[in-house]
Amino acid sequence: MDNICYGLSGRVFVITGGSRGIGLEIARRLLKNEKTKVVLCARKQEGLEQAAADLDAGDNLLALPAHIAREEDVAALFQRAKDTFGRVDALINNVGMNLLTPSTASAGMDTWKKIIDTNLNGTFLCSCAAAQIMREQGRGKIVNISSIASRRSAPGMGIYGVAKAGIESLTRVLALELAPDNIQVNAVAPSMVKTGFSAPFWSNREMHDQIVGGIPLGRLAEPADVVEPVLFLCSEGASFITGQVINIDGGATIV
Ligand SMILES: NC(=O)c1ccc[n+]([C@@H]2O[C@H](COP(=O)([O-])OP(=O)(O)OC[C@H]3O[C@@H](n4cnc5c(N)ncnc54)[C@H](OP(=O)(O)O)[C@@H]3O)[C@@H](O)[C@H]2O)c1
Repeated sequence: MDNICYGLSGRVFVITGGSRGIGLEIARRLLKNEKTKVVLCARKQEGLEQAAADLDAGDNLLALPAHIAREEDVAALFQRAKDTFGRVDALINNVGMNLLTPSTASAGMDTWKKIIDTNLNGTFLCSCAAAQIMREQGRGKIVNISSIASRRSAPGMGIYGVAKAGIESLTRVLALELAPDNIQVNAVAPSMVKTGFSAPFWSNREMHDQIVGGIPLGRLAEPADVVEPVLFLCSEGASFITGQVINIDGGATIV
């Protein structure tokens, strides 16, 4: 891959949940360009320090602790991004979590609230904070990381799927409302990606083979399979695309 990176050189990105997994790989790809700036967040300081050491990007990287479902954390995150780099060109709402819920109907309110809070409420809060800055700039891109679980019921993923469906709906609503401000809002919906998040599934040979059996392209996604479409959606090449959800699933949803 070249360092020009879809014409994104010099742009300022906020990536939520960038201390590992897909978010970290998006940051790594962007920071190959020495003019691009990245702000990433996570809850745990240790993970942020490891990511910062790994990315080794000097002043082009800000790695800040923030819980995206806490209003005060989100406000501080975007204020620091603006104070440090002067603007926010793109927000990548990457944070996601799941608590395995064998039965959604008996999961209980605490579990429901935790999953909805981090996945959906967090995406809402970060989008609102970014939109405020982007409106002043007269431009911006928001890309949400959904999941094909938004449209497919899967064991253990019930509430997570509901939250992701909410994110896809939010994507369309914000795309419409922010269109007059020249802000494009899109989402990607991957099938299983080989990160720590999904390791309990793909590290089990039997489960791995069963999942791959439902994917026409015959393999699981790697983080890089998600990185490239996300960066395209952040680029000027995608400036007439808004309110869309792109499946990144090796064809899983066409069978
Ligand atoms: N992996 C898959 O199979 C797959 C498939 C489809 C969609 N996705 C989606 O892709 C996105 C990234 O997934 P991933 O596999 O890269 O996840 P991951 O490896 O578990 O990484 C999650 C990141 O989010 C951070 N995080 C979690 N909760 C947070 C919170 N409340 N506030 C701030 N940061 C938080 C984590 O750091 P801390 O723990 O330190 O906070 C970490 O940096 C998620 O939206 C996920 O739903 C993943």
